[in-house]
Amino acid sequence: MIQSGNLYADLSGYYDLFCAEVDYAAQCAFAKRAYDCFANSGGHHYLDLACGTGAHILPMQSYGFVATGLDNSADMLAQAVRRCPNAEFILSDMSALEASCHYDLISCFLYSIHYSHPVSSLKLTLKRTFDALKPGGVFIFNTVDITGINSRHFVSTRVETEHSIMSFTSGWTYCGAGEAMHLHLSINQQVKADSAQSSEKRVWQDKHTMTAISIHGLKQWLQETGFEVTLLEHDYSRLQAWAGESFNIIVVAGKPL
Ligand SMILES: C[S@@+](CC[C@H](N)C(=O)[O-])C[C@H]1O[C@@H](n2cnc3c(N)ncnc32)[C@H](O)[C@@H]1O
Repeated sequence: MIQSGNLYADLSGYYDLFCAEVDYAAQCAFAKRAYDCFANSGGHHYLDLACGTGAHILPMQSYGFVATGLDNSADMLAQAVRRCPNAEFILSDMSALEASCHYDLISCFLYSIHYSHPVSSLKLTLKRTFDALKPGGVFIFNTVDITGINSRHFVSTRVETEHSIMSFTSGWTYCGAGEAMHLHLSINQQVKADSAQSSEKRVWQDKHTMTAISIHGLKQWLQETGFEVTLLEHDYSRLQAWAGESFNIIVVAGKPL
């Protein structure tokens, strides 16, 4: 039977398995390199927006940052608190971030900036993030251009645990107009049979509304907010200027001194 579930609430216990193939260490090494190249604010206060279960927090602490995570899911934050006992966490929507000139580095990974929906909320998130940075601080996030959404490109991951085989599928769809796109997630769990019982299969499906954006529109909103914008190729192994062809990019947005 197919059930509905929310990956960031009742299914949050599966989130880290869902992301088993995400290279968090590479993303954090990239964030540190970008901070070293672009930030000029003199400190090490770090905020991860939409931090989820806190996978970026520990590596960033190991680089010497004083880390804070923000997320609007209490279930995800409960896991983040267990994983990172020495970090601070804020339960809040991104667009309601309240801080003034406090952070040197703010990140938002795994396309989570698109959760700031609709566009009016996204613009508010950009403004609140700008205000939360110290002069010379940087905001780093990844994003996808709406013209790059291809509903045939769903990604699947398979993870075997002691008691079950899990398979996770995710992909975006866009109807071709308007400011909403959808992230479709499904989790299939095949519970391994023991000698007494037959195996059991469970399937959950989840659908999230996210903001559809164009890279050029986003760049303009960032500049209107006051940021100096650098667009990079979506490659966490190096800092390379965006050639203007790919749909997925990394944005480094600096708050001028
Ligand atoms: C794809 S997960 C990314 C988690 C983490 N950044 C990572 O890379 O593993 C998206 C996260 O965004 C959070 N989220 C969704 N909408 C949000 C919003 N409007 N404000 C703050 N957090 C939000 C969810 O609860 C979830 O933890």
